[in-house]
Amino acid sequence: MEWDRAARYKKLSEITEAEFEALQLKTDQSPWRQAFHIQPISGLLNDPNGFCYYNGEYHLFYQWFPLGPVHGLKHWYHTTSKDLATFKNKGLAVTPDTKWDSHGAYSGSGIVVNGQFYIVYTGNHRTEAWKRVPYQVIAQIENGEAINKTKIIDGPHEGYTDHYRDPKVWYENGLYYMVLGAQRTNETGTIVVYTSMDFKEWTFKGELETTYDDFGYMWECPDVFSLNNQDVVLFCPQGLDPVDGKYQNIYQSGYLIGHIDRTTLEMTHGEFQELDHGFDFYAPQTTLDKDGNRILIGWMGLPDTDYPTDEYGWAHCLTLPRVLTIEDGKLRQRPVPSLQKLRRNEETALGYATRRNVKLHPYEGKAYELIVDILENEAPEFYLELKVSKKESTLMTYNKAERRLTLERFDSGRVSQEVVGTSRSIVLEKDLSQLQIFVDHSSIEIFINDGEAVMTSRIFASEQATGIRTSTANGQVYLKFTKYDLIGE
Ligand code: FRU
Repeated sequence: MEWDRAARYKKLSEITEAEFEALQLKTDQSPWRQAFHIQPISGLLNDPNGFCYYNGEYHLFYQWFPLGPVHGLKHWYHTTSKDLATFKNKGLAVTPDTKWDSHGAYSGSGIVVNGQFYIVYTGNHRTEAWKRVPYQVIAQIENGEAINKTKIIDGPHEGYTDHYRDPKVWYENGLYYMVLGAQRTNETGTIVVYTSMDFKEWTFKGELETTYDDFGYMWECPDVFSLNNQDVVLFCPQGLDPVDGKYQNIYQSGYLIGHIDRTTLEMTHGEFQELDHGFDFYAPQTTLDKDGNRILIGWMGLPDTDYPTDEYGWAHCLTLPRVLTIEDGKLRQRPVPSLQKLRRNEETALGYATRRNVKLHPYEGKAYELIVDILENEAPEFYLELKVSKKESTLMTYNKAERRLTLERFDSGRVSQEVVGTSRSIVLEKDLSQLQIFVDHSSIEIFINDGEAVMTSRIFASEQATGIRTSTANGQVYLKFTKYDLIGE
């Protein structure tokens, strides 16, 4: 299928029921459909949006182009969850049907105001000359659909280009705040701040002032929240060159921790840290759960990259939800505890990984959680292979002297294009003591040392790639394996 402009800018409402069903059927028949991750029923999913707890349920939307695996006309798709472990598909929530969002209902956030659920998002409009005009729009969500769309901010503020989007809103001490990802006219990325007394009239307050004045050409998807009495700012800078093993993916997603002066908007902060060290992570969004924990969900994909599922008419999924805390000046990310509800068939094994390739029992799975406790490590290099078939293997290597964990996709199966390099690695602060790994049909999320770091990647292996193996370069590692099959809904 040729994705020319006309095909990319078609709405879901412009195709027939039968055509839509055919797209869903094609998607359903694809290999690599996930068992317990949020994935589109057809077409392309990208950023999580509007994440919010309202009326006893979590609401989570995502950027959606229903008609194919390309970044076409963005709609919002709606899912809900009672527990953050299983999500129900609810259907189309935002159709790009006004002048403001005519060329895409772009990313935004959710908020409850006076007992009503609202979303605030960027309407992407193109003029006849194809000039981009970003509008910030508020809509109410009623029965899962956006109604009463109202434009609240008209175009970029002076000093910024038309890359001005992805509002995150919150309420604090009698004021509504909004942060937007922006590009200055000198083509550097930043975050701008607006406030409102009544959620209707919004006033430009200026930039969030950080020391990162020249750090990429655009910052997408900002998020700001307080955690353990500190301020955390998440954003996705585009245009960073790789340095010292950092910034390996096409675009980055990371955070600053510090303090924001609410009057001057100056932020004192530490270094920019990446949120994830795998191949596929971008545009995360957070909300508070019903008990006040900060929960993060990301897009398990990246812009400007082709994925093997494209040929089946769909692309991407979201990550599992993670609980955030600050420990030793860094964000820790742990899978939400409710995911334990998906566990079935516990199997455990205690034993040694040695130079010979060992298949420890339990040694296979398709959709599972595997916890590897490293009880004693006398091996300079320790290997854990997952999704193993005769020809395939997704390899994790832990180098003890360097404290470096490497994920290697060279023999994993099909890969996304054009991705630089076949491995990603991270140097840990402490010796490797635990891996908690969520393996789905086409993804792997590796939580290292109880949330010290995470590596998230899509893996497109064959159906036969179900094996689990361990070995060492020499010496031995004493391990405990705990494995659960995981079921989706
Ligand atoms: C990030 C992003 C956002 C934008 C959305 C459009 O992936 O580019 O900046 O709002 O995707 O789908």
